Amino acid sequence: MQLQLQHKIVLTGVKPTGTLHIGNYYGAIKPAIDLGHAVLAQGGQHVMFIADYHAVNYLKDPVQMQECSERIACAYLACGVDPSKTIFYRQSDVPEVFEMTTLLTNFTPKGFMNKAHAYKAAVDKNLAKGEPQDAGINMGLYNYPILMAADILTYGSDYVPVGKDQVQHVEITADIAGAVNACYGQQILKIPQAITSDDTAIIPGTDGRKMSKSYGNVIPLIASAEEIRKAVMGIKTDCQDINAQKNPDEILLYQIARGVCPEAVVMEIKEGLTQGGMGYGTIKKMMAESIVKELAPIYDAYQGYKANYSKVEEMLQEGAKRARALARPVLDSFKAIVLNKSMKGK
Ligand code: TRP
Repeated sequence: MQLQLQHKIVLTGVKPTGTLHIGNYYGAIKPAIDLGHAVLAQGGQHVMFIADYHAVNYLKDPVQMQECSERIACAYLACGVDPSKTIFYRQSDVPEVFEMTTLLTNFTPKGFMNKAHAYKAAVDKNLAKGEPQDAGINMGLYNYPILMAADILTYGSDYVPVGKDQVQHVEITADIAGAVNACYGQQILKIPQAITSDDTAIIPGTDGRKMSKSYGNVIPLIASAEEIRKAVMGIKTDCQDINAQKNPDEILLYQIARGVCPEAVVMEIKEGLTQGGMGYGTIKKMMAESIVKELAPIYDAYQGYKANYSKVEEMLQEGAKRARALARPVLDSFKAIVLNKSMKGK
């Protein structure tokens, strides 16, 4: 799909998490940053933030919260977010979002929240254990999609690049915006659209299952050359003869290489497997070196940002100022209509 990006607003939210892996990078981080560059080149705006208020829901250790936010900020900068262009900030530094959240609750049918997938999954888990359906579920989880809608609608976002699991939330956001507009008979909030990358971009883990920290099968994103080599050497292989002619699509090494190596390396591996004669050890070495080459600059940049975190904090504060300037008029015109009052000078 060819996106019309001219003067559009692209917004990405990132939850603070423990560690990032190469699947996150190629599947989400890089495409979002690339789309950001593209929209900026078309005179639009790129908005990117760390969704720390969303994370309070599952992360209640303050030190861990701060560490995760710092790590994500440094990682995204190291991956190429340019804070002089992209509006890059922390959600909690923009109070307009929370004011918007309160307003939006009044236009959100409760049934939407009952159907949201994270809440439904939590309910199903409770019921499977024979517990009351809402046991241990807080309102932060229940209202999660409304906060996300506020993130998106407060800036008048046009496009929201997300993983497949977040598409439902963007659709709920569009429905909420539609409900507001219908209520007052005018276009108050812009209807956003989710952007997803295709399934072939999904990179399996080193054991062939979904790449996930909880399975211990990741190739880490922010890692030394040694750590990356070790992870790549650990990719599971079968015991076919080296000279056997293989179908690359059935070989895990190739499935991973396809997602993380440059085209020339991918073609060489494909050829080696199809013809036979290229050993798995050789392929792993090629892959490891090509990944190290791509990720080494990111690792170095990350260390630089980490060592100079006060500078990163300044960037985030500057980003929050710009975010607030973008948010204020959208929120004010919404408020003015709801309350029938002028917001000038407020
Ligand atoms: N919910 C998103 C996730 O789990 C993170 C997020 C929060 C987000 N607010 C957003 C994503 C707004 C896009 C737009 O990954």
